[in-house]
Order: sequence, then structure tokens, then C-alpha cells
Amino acid sequence: MAFAAGAALLSGALAGGTYAVAHHYLLNQRQAGAETQTYADARLVKQDLTAAGTNVADVLSVLAPAQGTRSLVYRGGQWFSTSVSVGRSSVPTALLEMVRQGTPAMQREVINGAPAVAIGLPLPAVGADYFEIEPLGELARTLRLLAAVLAGAGLATTMGGVVIGRWASARLVRPLASVAAVAGAISQGALDQRLPADRDADLAPLVTSFNGMVDALSRRIERDARFASDVSHELRSPLTTLQAAVEVLAAFRSSLPIEGRKALELLRSETSRFSEMVQDLLEIARIDGGAAPLELEELPLDEVITRTVGAFSAVHIPVDVQPGARGASILADRRRLQRVIANLLDNAGKYGGGATLVSVDCMAGWARVCVDDAGPGVPASERDRIFERFYRGPAAGRRADGSGTGLGLALASEHVGAHHGRIWVEAAPGGGARFCLEFPVDGP
Ligand SMILES: Nc1ncnc2c1ncn2[C@@H]1O[C@H](COP(=O)(O)OP(=O)(O)OP(=O)(O)O)[C@@H](O)[C@H]1O
Ligand SMILES: [Mg+2]
Repeated sequence: MAFAAGAALLSGALAGGTYAVAHHYLLNQRQAGAETQTYADARLVKQDLTAAGTNVADVLSVLAPAQGTRSLVYRGGQWFSTSVSVGRSSVPTALLEMVRQGTPAMQREVINGAPAVAIGLPLPAVGADYFEIEPLGELARTLRLLAAVLAGAGLATTMGGVVIGRWASARLVRPLASVAAVAGAISQGALDQRLPADRDADLAPLVTSFNGMVDALSRRIERDARFASDVSHELRSPLTTLQAAVEVLAAFRSSLPIEGRKALELLRSETSRFSEMVQDLLEIARIDGGAAPLELEELPLDEVITRTVGAFSAVHIPVDVQPGARGASILADRRRLQRVIANLLDNAGKYGGGATLVSVDCMAGWARVCVDDAGPGVPASERDRIFERFYRGPAAGRRADGSGTGLGLALASEHVGAHHGRIWVEAAPGGGARFCLEFPVDGP
């Protein structure tokens, strides 16, 4: 647009300037010519009229005016002209007035429907006024043609501007479009994506530095993931030893003093929490490292959910299977699906006073499972953040029981994402939290 506007502006200014100069020059030249001719003819008329007894009409007949030029003489209250088509009415009144007062004058007017220049000269020596009317129609046609040519050239230049503008902007935007596409793919997790090498010398540095940045980034991500996985692995064996030792101690629980028993319980719960965390960390590290493939199998949706809920707690949690989900089968990883549901039930127990309802539905190729509780719910500002790793919400610091590491929902989100589904939280109709997961029934 800018190129086209620039081209239009420049060519418009150039065409306008050219037209104005040409118009001025051609008109001046034409008027000067007409003026010279008029003076010459007037001199002739004056000479002839000086001779006594000369007829004005005869004088006019000897003039040899240029093509289309008309001559008029006003003498003794009478008008004489070289053509019947011109007469007193052809001479503009203002010009006539000036000449009558003894001043030579020139005026441009539309005379008999055509542009013309009228020149008048007083000839006091012979008691007459001499007028010449020179048509400017030819000049006007030339100027119209010039205007048309200039407008055409301006239009062609503007079109040229549009073409060049499109080409230049496409050339500028092309690398940005491919950078945006690759950056988008990388942000979706495709860390092996790189910009293809570009032969354009201007773009090569951009490609090199972009690819270099992605290399550095993916190396860093890999290193971090490896570190987390290594740490978790290293922690596992001493932790197992620790748990075994705690169990040995627990066998002698009855012979321990009361303080010892309290310490043992604390040790037991903390080691089991620690072990859960290490397991979660290992699982996340495996997912990050791409070492956790989905084990897909055909599953009866309502049965799997009902069983998982039933096995989770001794307290009965109602499961509402909608008609669409009755008998529906899904292609999913059983273990991972169970873990997600168990995680949501665990959270409902910890933060929502227990799950009040689990609903299962299935429509248009998508299965949906929701877990409701009657707790305080999750504020709208927290609804995305609670799915981040180690995020435990503003209440985390206040909880004295120390339960939870903030990995449960992050893992759930990974599991659901692996099925190409999504997980979110909203307000339950009763006021608590409603966690829903949705995934395609035909598998990812
Ligand atoms: N049903 C719920 N009602 C209110 N807040 C919830 C609910 N479920 C989760 N949250 C909030 O989301 C945070 C993150 O949950 P997440 O399951 O990821 O971690 P966690 O339960 O604290 O730890 P982990 O599950 O790893 O043992 C919780 O700390 C809690 O603040
Ligand atoms: Mg949790």
C-alpha cells in the first residue's frame, strides 16, 4: 500500500507539474504568436486605411490570416469582419471597453463555443479599432491529449508501485512467515525443527542465529530434563533403603516409647510422600525425554471409570454415566487414565472435602469425565496456573500438613495431552471445583 501510495503521489506530482509547465509554455507561445500577427495585420490595415477612399471590407480581404483566425474592424460605428461567423458579439465586452479607451488589450474567452484568444488594438490615426480572434481549439486538444498521456503514465507507475510493493513485502515477510511457523512448532514441543538454509545473503545470518538459538535452547532443555531424571534415579535407591529401614523399625513399634512412635509415624509418612514425589518426578522426566510411549488399548469407558472411583476410597462416590457413554469403548492408556482420575479424586479429597460426583459422557467422538467437589473451588486467576509443575496455589504455604508437591495436575495434564485431549477446571454447579478431562474416543 505504501509503495502504491508513494508511486501515485510521485507520479501525480510529476504529471501535474509537467502539465502545468506545458500548458503555460504552449499558451504563452501561442498568445505571443497571435500578438505578433495582430500587430502586423493592424499595421497593414492602418496603412491601407490611410489611403483616402479605401473600403474597409477591401482592406480586410487582402489580409492573409492564419488558419481559423478572424479579423474585425470597427470604424465609424460600423463592424467589418473577414467572416460572417464573427461580428461585434464575438468581441468580449471588457476587451472592447479597453480598446475604446485607447489601450491595446488581449483576453482569453470561449467565443462561439470554442476557446479563443481575442486581441484588440486601437488605430486612432485612422479612427478605427482592429481586433483579431485566434481559436485555441487545437491547443486545447493537444493539452487534453497530453493530460491523458500523463494520467496513463501516472496510472502505469502506480501499478508498477503496487507490483514492486507486493514483491518487496512478500520478500520481506517470507522469512518471517517461516520463522513464525518453525517457532510455533518448537513451542508445541517439536525441538528438532530448524529453519532451512537460505541462499539469500541477507537472510542467512537470521537463519544461522535462529537455528543456533534453538540448538542452545534444546541442549539446555535436554540437560535440565536429564538432570531431573538423574537426580530422581539417584534418590530412588537410598529412599528404598530408608523405607525398608522404617518398616523394620515399625515392626518394633510396640517396644518404642511414645515419642519414638510419633517420630516413626512422621518418618513413615514423610518417606512415603518423598517416594511418591520421586515417582512423579521420574514419570515427568520419562515423558519429557519421550521415553513414555502410550500403551493404547480398547477400554469400556464407564466400567474403567466406575472401577477406578470404586477402588479409590471406601466412601461411596456417585458415578453418573450419561446415556451417550453407556457401553462406549475408548482407545486409551488404562494406567495413565486411572492415574489422572485418581489424582483428581485425591485433590478433591485434599482440597474440596471429598468428591461429590463423577460424571462420564461421550459425544461426537469425544469422551468427557468430570470430577466435582463441594470445596472452595479454584479462583479464575489460578485455573491455568494450577496445572504448572510444583504450583500449589496461594494456600500452599499455609497448609501445615505439608501434603502435595504440586506435580499431580501437571502430570495429569501431560497424560491427557498425550491422548490429544485437554483438562481444565471450572466452577461446579454446587460452588466447588469441577475438573474435567476430554479426549478423543478413537485415541490420539
Ligand atoms: N479440588 C480442588 N479444589 C481446590 N483447589 C485445588 C483442587 N485441586 C487442586 N487444587 C489446587 O491446585 C494445586 C495443584 O494441585 P496438584 O494436584 O498439581 O498438586 P498437589 O495436590 O498440591 O500435589 P500432588 O498432587 O503432587 O501431591 C493444589 O495445591 C491446590 O491448591
Ligand atoms: Mg494433587
